[in-house]
Amino acid sequence: MSGLFVTFEGGEGAGKTTVLREIKKRLDEKGKKVVMTREPGGSIIAEKIREIILDPAHTEMDSRTEALLYAAARRQHLVERIVPSLTEGYNILCDRFIDSSLVYQGVARKIGIEEVFKINLFATDGLMPHKTLFFDIDPEIGLKRIASHGGREYNRLDRETLDFHYLVRQAYSDLQKKHPERIQLIDASETLDNVIEATWAYLEPLIR
Ligand code: TYD
Repeated sequence: MSGLFVTFEGGEGAGKTTVLREIKKRLDEKGKKVVMTREPGGSIIAEKIREIILDPAHTEMDSRTEALLYAAARRQHLVERIVPSLTEGYNILCDRFIDSSLVYQGVARKIGIEEVFKINLFATDGLMPHKTLFFDIDPEIGLKRIASHGGREYNRLDRETLDFHYLVRQAYSDLQKKHPERIQLIDASETLDNVIEATWAYLEPLIR
């Protein structure tokens, strides 16, 4: 596989999706082969699973069901889009991937990172991102940002308490410390322009 597989991770309102779009635009302008995608989703079947997972009406969803659905969506996305694109030499910029499951389902939902890693290993056959960017922001500020611009769809996870989002942040931070060679910390409390420049400075030399 010749493309670089990059994932964008972080809590709500960290700005990662906006940054991702800007980075994709700049790479397109440089003539790089880049695919932008997201999880849960990124293929027709996976987007259908996404609708089930994120539907605010599905209040009775069990945590393990949720974890399995994310893993199922990931499997389909990987087989249909990620692996073929990497093989064709595309760089992939993916909004969320396995670390979201480790953090949200493993830690915040308290299933356990090891358990969630196991089902994800089944889903991904061990394919991990080459690089992951962790957009770090205080959840209180992140959630305020979302509330102030609106725009983004309201989903089932937005109903969670502030404590849940603090667990998410702590879990990302722990993962970053555990895998510093793969996961790069980006301070997302900066202005959007600064966050974009920091991301660009890190990523641009790595893109193939
Ligand atoms: P989305 O609207 O894409 O949110 P964001 O803009 O924050 O990325 O919704 C995705 C939600 O799903 C988000 O709250 C994180 C959650 N999620 C998990 O809990 N586990 C996962 O494996 C993935 C991929 C996402």
